[in-house]
Amino acid sequence: MKLPGKVSLITGAASGMGRATAILFAREGSKVVAVDIDDAGGQKTVDLIHEMGGDAIFVRADVARDDDARRMVDQAVARYGRLDVLFNNAGVAQGVELTEMTEEEWDRVVDIDLKGVFLGSKYGIRAMLQSGGGVIINTASISGLLAQNFLPAYNAAKAGVINLTRYIAVEYGPRNIRANAICPGAIDTPMLQSAVSGKPENAPVVKYFLHMAPLHRLGTPEDIAKAALFLASDDASFITGHALVVDGGLTAGTFMDPNRLRAMAEDLLKA
Ligand SMILES: NC(=O)c1ccc[n+]([C@@H]2O[C@H](COP(=O)([O-])OP(=O)(O)OC[C@H]3O[C@@H](n4cnc5c(N)ncnc54)[C@H](O)[C@@H]3O)[C@@H](O)[C@H]2O)c1
Repeated sequence: MKLPGKVSLITGAASGMGRATAILFAREGSKVVAVDIDDAGGQKTVDLIHEMGGDAIFVRADVARDDDARRMVDQAVARYGRLDVLFNNAGVAQGVELTEMTEEEWDRVVDIDLKGVFLGSKYGIRAMLQSGGGVIINTASISGLLAQNFLPAYNAAKAGVINLTRYIAVEYGPRNIRANAICPGAIDTPMLQSAVSGKPENAPVVKYFLHMAPLHRLGTPEDIAKAALFLASDDASFITGHALVVDGGLTAGTFMDPNRLRAMAEDLLKA
């Protein structure tokens, strides 16, 4: 087991990468505090962990609210006595061109995706300092490394998450806290599906990702969970301040195979 006896708090644990990570961490011996605003999904994650003999609780909390962030950490410590791993993973995306984006839409994305990481870290780090250290993992995105169209607030927030992660690594490394970000590419979760389902105009986007990623598949939530497990475990004990790209090579470069390039160009023109 990679996380024996550890206590991990995972936000966005009702779905997608958060649920997959909660289940994997529990399998690896961690007690899990599953946090989400989705009660039914969060409880389902906890039920799945209990079914496999693991230990987990669900805490309903909105990561964008200071009092909720404080409460989720307090409940973790009240139940399990400490906090070892914090996975700030909850996030939302809003596909809209900058000139059409409302202030409310901007605030919602930045509040959840960036301020949520600040607030979770604020209370999570306080708890970790009480017990001598810990590990922070933040879900950023390849959108934090390069800009994707129609995602102005998301690009900005995720870039902020990467540098906030570096800040935490610099500030708290001397106090035995490691902090790393994960930059997923196109991962097959409800977030990606909702960008496509019922929106035929977005279908070519997924096709494009499949073409462009050298591994020619979407990522799975488990691909991200395994990266999070590595970063949470002692296997990564000398890794901090890093943004780990998990994208099937999507941002690695472009193809050299002329046939594939030609087919892709034809598809794109047809789309
Ligand atoms: N799916 C992708 O292709 C992709 C790519 C790059 C990055 N990401 C990032 O990965 C993370 C996980 O996304 P996912 O793909 O698993 O999506 P998802 O929609 O399956 O899961 C996100 C979870 O976050 C929860 N959530 C939303 N707002 C919240 C809030 N205010 N407080 C608490 N919980 C909240 C949702 O209820 C949901 O359970 C997000 O940060 C997302 O931005 C996703």
